[in-house]
Amino acid sequence: MTPSPVSELGYRFSVPATTANLGPGFDSLGMALALRNVISVQPVPGEALDLKVTGAVGLPAGEDNLMVKAMRRVLGERKVGAQIEVSAHIPPASGMGSSAAAIVSGVMAGSLLLDDPLEPADLIKLAVEIEGHPDNVAAAMLGGLTASSYVDGTLLVRRIPTENIRVVIALPKVEASTADQRAALPDSVPLKDAAANIGRAVLVVEALRAGDLGLLRDAMVDCLHVPARSEAIPGYEAVVRAAQSAGAQAVTISGAGPAVIAFAGSRHRQIAAALETAFRSAGAPARTWVLPVDRDGLRGEQFEGEA
Ligand code: HSE
Repeated sequence: MTPSPVSELGYRFSVPATTANLGPGFDSLGMALALRNVISVQPVPGEALDLKVTGAVGLPAGEDNLMVKAMRRVLGERKVGAQIEVSAHIPPASGMGSSAAAIVSGVMAGSLLLDDPLEPADLIKLAVEIEGHPDNVAAAMLGGLTASSYVDGTLLVRRIPTENIRVVIALPKVEASTADQRAALPDSVPLKDAAANIGRAVLVVEALRAGDLGLLRDAMVDCLHVPARSEAIPGYEAVVRAAQSAGAQAVTISGAGPAVIAFAGSRHRQIAAALETAFRSAGAPARTWVLPVDRDGLRGEQFEGEA
């Protein structure tokens, strides 16, 4: 999307939730999901960025908000005022890409307030730089399945066409920030584990491209991050088994967790119910979603503002 900024007009755009890693593709694979935060940005006189968030609870307000921080990165020292409203449907600290959505929203909103908005390639680079890893950001911006790598300031990213896919996400009510979940990871891993992950990550991409859920089941196995992170997810092994018994093919942690993602060709509602029951038995009530893959990524429109 590239609406041109006109001061009396506002903008509305939306950014999807994302699931990262997809098992063995740690920090590299991402996929957008059809659950969106909707953002409106109205330029106003002055230099305050006035943010109102509805829907999500527990997000910091004002200049501490991740979206406002990302806007400031784009705006630099420029004195620009705006009223920003976010209707947030992506739960924070969930493993469903709420940080990436906030950062992508922030760089987009900041760019729309410039006389000379950033090119999409610069938006994505800046968003990845702020996030620190590219998987969620790439999928949130481009939609669909994305493969990306960010090495020494160079971003490589591609969107990969997939078959129609629906997933089940279950989010248990537990505290698990991405920062804590990254801190839980080992500093180094054995070469054989790294090699196994590389092969499986490539096979996961092929499985999603071809809609081969049997291959996905066998390939969506990780030995870099899931073993450490699953300890923070109540009843993880039993939850995976319950989803499989209800018909799921592949099951893994969504992003850094604590959400769990299950892939299946049918029986999504039954899988969601089985995940809820298994989490409840482990002492953690869970919310569930059945979501198709989002194919659009960041999308937007211009609207008549009230200023
Ligand atoms: N690849 C990231 C991780 C996604 O697993 O930590 C979460 O932001």
